[in-house]
Order: sequence, then structure tokens, then C-alpha cells
Amino acid sequence: MKIELVEEVPSTNEYIRRYLSGGENVVVCAKRQSAGKGTKGRTFLSEEGGVYLSALTFYQDLPSREAFRVMMHAAVAVCKTLEVYGCSPEIKWPNDVLVNGRKACGILIENILEGDKLKASVVGIGLNVQNDVSALNGIAFSLNEVVPDISVEEVRNTLLQNLNKQTSFSAYQQYVRLGKVTVEENGESYDALALGVLEDGRLKIQVDGRERTLSSAEIRRIS
Ligand code: BTN
Repeated sequence: MKIELVEEVPSTNEYIRRYLSGGENVVVCAKRQSAGKGTKGRTFLSEEGGVYLSALTFYQDLPSREAFRVMMHAAVAVCKTLEVYGCSPEIKWPNDVLVNGRKACGILIENILEGDKLKASVVGIGLNVQNDVSALNGIAFSLNEVVPDISVEEVRNTLLQNLNKQTSFSAYQQYVRLGKVTVEENGESYDALALGVLEDGRLKIQVDGRERTLSSAEIRRIS
């Protein structure tokens, strides 16, 4: 697979779009981003010291309803990477990766659809390694807290290797945090019990004694 290393771009997710017409899988890694993109239109702090990469993958015949597999694969690859360095990662459904309850990594997936098929996906991953996250009010985790002299290049290579491996739904399930959560949905929030993830990626929850599923909501663990 082609891998391009760049010093700085506004966003690897944007930069990689130049390869969309080529049909070849490619990964772009940047040392820093000047306008890193987060989910829900947020910005993603991308100072030197983190791993910032986007992987463009083309698919032959993947129904769009299976897009969850792309997200699952990325989140598991990040968890496996963090484990190599002695961390015990957890996935905050659907795809935030936490260590010690703090966010170690953000994943932004942008899918290119053709009819009801997933033609390609851009998987953007930002992993804190040697960057100073102290400005983020204790909500972020950086790998150098566990391995102080860790090399960003080494972590990047471990992540790339893990992205190249197959993952299973059971591996994803094993990392997902269950239990008490606060669900933030359509501007409202309520307490619920996360019971498990279904194969299509939906989260099964219990609210006021009744079960329901969530397909896209922001959840926050409260205990
Ligand atoms: C989030 O948690 O909000 C998702 C953050 C995703 C950040 C990564 S860094 C590499 C890629 N390029 C971007 O601009 N964003 C993603």
C-alpha cells in the first residue's frame, strides 16, 4: 500500500481526497495539521507529537449498511496499538478510544457512497503520543504518560501494521465500555444502561426498564 508522509497539511482527511480518482488504497501521515477536523464539525488539536493519519480504502462490493465494519476495524486497530505500550484501552461507543477514562484518540470516518454501496472510505485517526494535552482540561490522554520517551514514528508504524490486520466483531465488543451512561441525543440527555453492541453497530441500552437501540447518539459514562 502506498504511504505518503507529509510535514504539515490542514487535514489529512482533506488532503487524501486527491487520490479519490485513482482507485488505489493509500495512507497519508502528517507530523502536524493546521486545521485538523473532528466529528460534528469540531476542530481537532493536531500539534506535533501526535500520529495524524488518514487511510483511503476502496471496496468492491460492500453494502453501505455494513459501514460500521470500517469504524469497528479502525477502533480495534487503535486499541491493539495502545496495548502494545501497556495501556488498557476502552472504546466509548461508537469509536472514541479512551485510556484511564480519558480520550487517547479520535477517529473521523468519511464514506464515499455510490448508490447503496460503499465505494470508498477515508479513515482519519489522531492519536496522542508525545503531544502536550494538558490544555484539554484532563479529558485527554497521551501515550507519553505511560512510556515517557516513546517514539511517534514507532507508534505510527505499529498502528499501520494493526490497520493492515483483520479484526473481528468480538474483538470490538471486548473493548466497548458498558454500564451506566448518559445519552446525549437531539439536544437532550438521559441516563441509561449500555447492555451491548449489535452486529450492525447499534448500541443496545436500557432506559427506565425498557430496552431500545441507538444508532447515533453521543454517550458519556457517568460511573
Ligand atoms: C474526533 O474525535 O472528533 C475525531 C478526530 C479525528 C482526527 C483525525 S487526525 C487525522 C485525520 N485528519 C483530520 O483532519 N481528522 C482526522
